Amino acid sequence: MEESHQLNTPHTKMRRRKTTNSVVQVNGNYLKLKAGYLFPEISRRVKAFSDANPGTELIRLGIGDVTEPLPEACREAMKAAVDAMGTTAGFHGYGPEQGYNWLREAIARQDFQARGCQVSAEEIFVSDGSKCDSSNILDILGEGNRIAVTDPVYPVYVDSNVMAGRTGEAQEDGCYEGLTYLAINAANNFEAQLPDQAVDLIYLCFPNNPTGAVANRKQLERWVNFAREHKALILFDAAYEAFIQDPELPHSIYEIEGARECAIEFRSFSKNAGFTGTRCAYTVVPKGLTGKAANGEDVELWKLWNRRQSTKFNGVSYIVQRGAEAVYSAAGQAQVKALVSFYMENAAIIRGELTTLGLTVYGGEHAPYVWIKTPEGIDSWGFFDQLLERAHVVGTPGSGFGAAGEGYFRLSAFNSRANVQAAMGRIAAL
Ligand code: MLT
Repeated sequence: MEESHQLNTPHTKMRRRKTTNSVVQVNGNYLKLKAGYLFPEISRRVKAFSDANPGTELIRLGIGDVTEPLPEACREAMKAAVDAMGTTAGFHGYGPEQGYNWLREAIARQDFQARGCQVSAEEIFVSDGSKCDSSNILDILGEGNRIAVTDPVYPVYVDSNVMAGRTGEAQEDGCYEGLTYLAINAANNFEAQLPDQAVDLIYLCFPNNPTGAVANRKQLERWVNFAREHKALILFDAAYEAFIQDPELPHSIYEIEGARECAIEFRSFSKNAGFTGTRCAYTVVPKGLTGKAANGEDVELWKLWNRRQSTKFNGVSYIVQRGAEAVYSAAGQAQVKALVSFYMENAAIIRGELTTLGLTVYGGEHAPYVWIKTPEGIDSWGFFDQLLERAHVVGTPGSGFGAAGEGYFRLSAFNSRANVQAAMGRIAAL
């Protein structure tokens, strides 16, 4: 038995106790991860600042977390579901792991069939989040896949691959060995070039987190054609599709011919309907989409994902699924539209104010994120520190999304109007 090696603070002193150092092996892949996950790292710095400057009021435009109340239609549906759960007839125990059919039907009909996509209810898997789904999908994909991500990128795609042992070590610049990084920056108009080496798995996110860029039909066609030609799989994250303003732009990869043969799509109720705390999302796995077994046989990914979900997941609560279903009611649709417009007006304010200040801004037109070029001579974390310490505004350093995000900074439009205006006022006063 050895004494635990805790820091000798008064707090830990009180809790000091004998521990046994276990011999159980840890997942060494976790030890390859760089620092903390981006958002906890930001929270850590913000906490340190707040502890040192008690009483300072911060405005948080960092993590893309919604602030406005849940749509009334969703609340009413959830209240009714709670009441039903209080009756013998309306009580629900375990639900189907794939989600209730009434929700899957509504999703298939309104999110896909209404836009001309051939997606059936059976192909929808309701879940508790796109972050979880886009990580968990690796469970059904083999270890040898060559993986492409954009740079910058939503950090979950990279970190989940690191955790699953699908990468080598982190290099000096923070990139991981074994991953193919596709730079997106002002020089290429935030449109990644097609990989010039063979890849099997391609992560795409449109509207893009973090750059706020959006893809048009032609651009998505390039990706679908590439994936079909190279027999690759696209993991398409469309969590922000509701923020697309131009009716000509595609919301789903399945609006592109041939995408059913090469793409899985992730969707979420977090950002459109404000479910970040309520938790509901879904993943589309088309029937007939296949991967290869080691013996060369074609295997349906739908079957594997269905097996994975049935084994490791017990579904989203009945109450929450009723809330999500209400998004598809006429009232729900109108309320969600109003919420999205509210945040997009915030994005327009951020874009407008920062442009007036002489900063170069991107995104924020079809996405709730504004991507800012940091002023000459200031790097991403430097800009983060300046805004935190001098304007008391929290944003997200671009380099936290990947090496090519260096020199950029992200502001989220998810906040109250008053806070967004106050934040812009504080930045202008710098
Ligand atoms: C972000 O700020 O990038 C998002 O909130 C992350 C997420 O949705 O998980």
